[in-house]
Amino acid sequence: MTTALTQEFATAGPPIDVVIMAAGKGTRMKSRLPKVLHQLAGRSLLAHVLDTSKTLRARNVVVITGHGAIEVEAHCASNAGVLAPLVLNFVRQEPQLGTGHAVQQALPRLADDGVVLVLSGDVPLTQPATLFHLIMASAGQHLALLTLEMADPTGYGRIVRAGGQAEGAVQAIVEQKDATLAEHSITEIYSGIMAVPALHLKRWLARLDNRNAQGEYYLTDIVKFAVADGVGVVAHKIDDAVQVAGVNSPVQLAELERAHQLRQAHRLMEEGVRLADPARLDVRGDLLCAQDVSIDVNCVFMGKVNLGEGVSIGAHCVIANAVIEAGAVIHPFTHIDGENVGVTVGKGALVGPFARLRPGATLGAQVHIGNFVEVKNSTLAAGAKANHLAYLGDATVGERVNYGAGSITANYDGANKHRTIIGADVHVGSNCVLVAPVNIGEGGTIGGGSTITKDTPAGALSVARGKQVSVAGWTRPKKTPKA
Ligand code: UD1
Ligand code: MG
Repeated sequence: MTTALTQEFATAGPPIDVVIMAAGKGTRMKSRLPKVLHQLAGRSLLAHVLDTSKTLRARNVVVITGHGAIEVEAHCASNAGVLAPLVLNFVRQEPQLGTGHAVQQALPRLADDGVVLVLSGDVPLTQPATLFHLIMASAGQHLALLTLEMADPTGYGRIVRAGGQAEGAVQAIVEQKDATLAEHSITEIYSGIMAVPALHLKRWLARLDNRNAQGEYYLTDIVKFAVADGVGVVAHKIDDAVQVAGVNSPVQLAELERAHQLRQAHRLMEEGVRLADPARLDVRGDLLCAQDVSIDVNCVFMGKVNLGEGVSIGAHCVIANAVIEAGAVIHPFTHIDGENVGVTVGKGALVGPFARLRPGATLGAQVHIGNFVEVKNSTLAAGAKANHLAYLGDATVGERVNYGAGSITANYDGANKHRTIIGADVHVGSNCVLVAPVNIGEGGTIGGGSTITKDTPAGALSVARGKQVSVAGWTRPKKTPKA
């Protein structure tokens, strides 16, 4: 639906220029980190807002920074690649004299022919579709306000309507601290989000003053000017508070995170994914699931994760940047992180419990990786098994290899990494060290406890360890009595 709306708007409306207010200090976060850089679902609050702006196909985004400006600007710049073709601009607001003053700083970056969408960097969960509707309500000529009914409107700007009627024309927004007793009882509030034609905005902002209870330049005062100028003011009222909820404290951040996660869980279940408990799932990125996927409690998915048909994820798994193919089973407490390289788990593979797959782990069909096995930058062909306490790093493992408990590839000589190649049908005994670079010939057997430093021939038994000796009648040392 979002895409359809975007196209419709892209052809029908004026260009969208987004202004994101992100200068505030966020005192109640009690953190060194600027508020808008705190994370929700694995991304900064600001990144959510920028992403939404990208979905809206905004022409231009102006981020207003103040507190922590350098950090906030650097963070945006580091995301610029992902956000392209979105054009990012920054303006500084120092000192912070109110929301109207904030938007005034952005004016030099705003062309006259656009509609300006005002967003806040600390309001992460607004749906693009909601904003499209708001922009459409503005229709290139009106001032459109996103509003909401709130049982407890304390602290918010109130929407004052003609005759106090629910359908009366909007006349003003009155801030909590400036409101009369009668106005305090108004339950329709201003969300902090508006769409306004740039030309009107420029004219009205020039008229702002700070004669109010807080001595601030209120953006919300432009409503009065619109009314005075005979420009239509429309309220687009929604009933979903999560979409306009701002983050001011760690408690609010956690509440919003849970609300967001629950929504994602429900979306997944609607697509057929079986979740043991929708309240115990965290998706911090994009999780794509084929049919008949089941996910047990307390799993965390990060980055891009693809789960194939019939995949089953056990409890307490953390899975990032990975493709898990059809029918694979990931047992509890498994940690998979492909970072920017990726991990692939082949069809019908069994992984875990307590396994660790690192970047470049590529498991073929029916591979078994058991408890306390770590795999990094290694390919395991179909049917290979490493079931207990082992390390495979920079290795190429053939089909049906059986890799014994406690065995490792010594892939690092202290300066460089080297590869270990294990041919098909090799059997590596327990507690072996394969010192790379080394090639284990097909069908060979490595005796338990061997340290293999030279290539081994196909089909051979290779043993490299001290020969067993037994000393008869051995007398163990005795403790010397204390003097
Ligand atoms: C504002 C609205 C209020 C609305 C509420 C919704 C005004 C005057 N009031 O309230 O009607 O109900 O949002 O949450 O606009 N900021 C700056 N520079 C400043 C001041 C604020 O960048 O000088 C930023 C803040 O960091 C924040 C956003 O603007 O991201 C909103 O500021 P905040 O103080 O939270 O809103 P209020 O003024 O309380
Ligand atoms: Mg304020």
